[in-house]
Amino acid sequence: MKPRVAIVTGAAAGIGTAIAARFLADGYAVMAVDRATRPEDFRVEPGCSAFLQADLADKAVAGEIAAAASALGTVDALINNAGIGGSRPVAQTDDDSWEKILDVNLGAAFRLSRAVLPGMIERGKGSIVHIASIFGEVGYRGTAAYAASKAALAGLTRQMAADYGPAGIRVNAVAPGLIETAMTAKLLQDPTYRDLMLNSTPVGRTGKPREVAGVVAFLCSDDASFVNGETIAVDGGWRATRMKVSG
Ligand code: NAI
Repeated sequence: MKPRVAIVTGAAAGIGTAIAARFLADGYAVMAVDRATRPEDFRVEPGCSAFLQADLADKAVAGEIAAAASALGTVDALINNAGIGGSRPVAQTDDDSWEKILDVNLGAAFRLSRAVLPGMIERGKGSIVHIASIFGEVGYRGTAAYAASKAALAGLTRQMAADYGPAGIRVNAVAPGLIETAMTAKLLQDPTYRDLMLNSTPVGRTGKPREVAGVVAFLCSDDASFVNGETIAVDGGWRATRMKVSG
């Protein structure tokens, strides 16, 4: 029997690395993709794991990734995790920055989904998870293109669930809150941001990449066989409450 394959984008750092490790631990073959070089602790083993260094902004890359993953086995899971931040308020956002953020965060997820869907449809099985953000659901200052891209991923999730549920494919999203990664390292040094996020998170701490990976793994498992079209926040309760813990 061919191994089950999970494709994980943005796997060279942070949440993507944790997702790739979790899928390997769960017995999947993992096709890891990143524009950065392969992390040393991601071991490439023939038939079990592969790493493709590629920029998802390159429109030709989605087909290459799907083909490389199919060579490993049957693509059962696609995790569209790669993303970039760095956006500004609308009045300070130039066209290049708008297009780049929308393209990497949303366009690449669309293109890769389109590339793997025919195989999943043929087998009548598959699970796609987009990594969105709580900032796609709640307004915050200065992050226009990023928030727009993440809100659009939640919309895409619902739409794809409707289109492909009948074919046996479930599509969900995870919206992380404040997770400690390279993306948030600088933000966490900003006292206003720290206060807004940490002081308003009922569990009173930042999240770990593996806590996002666990929910992604659940969504791709048979335990989630009736979960479709959802965006699940993994944020310690921030979005649901924005509770002032102190002060
Ligand atoms: P990170 O910056 O630590 O890692 C992102 C990875 O994606 C990097 O390895 C980077 O090289 C890769 N990547 C970026 N653009 C790429 C491209 N064009 N082609 C190929 N690879 C590319 O980020 P982190 O924190 O691990 O975030 C992962 C996802 O989770 C992102 O989509 C992010 O927006 C989302 N997220 C993260 C949160 C956090 O608090 N860390 C909160 C909410 C959402």
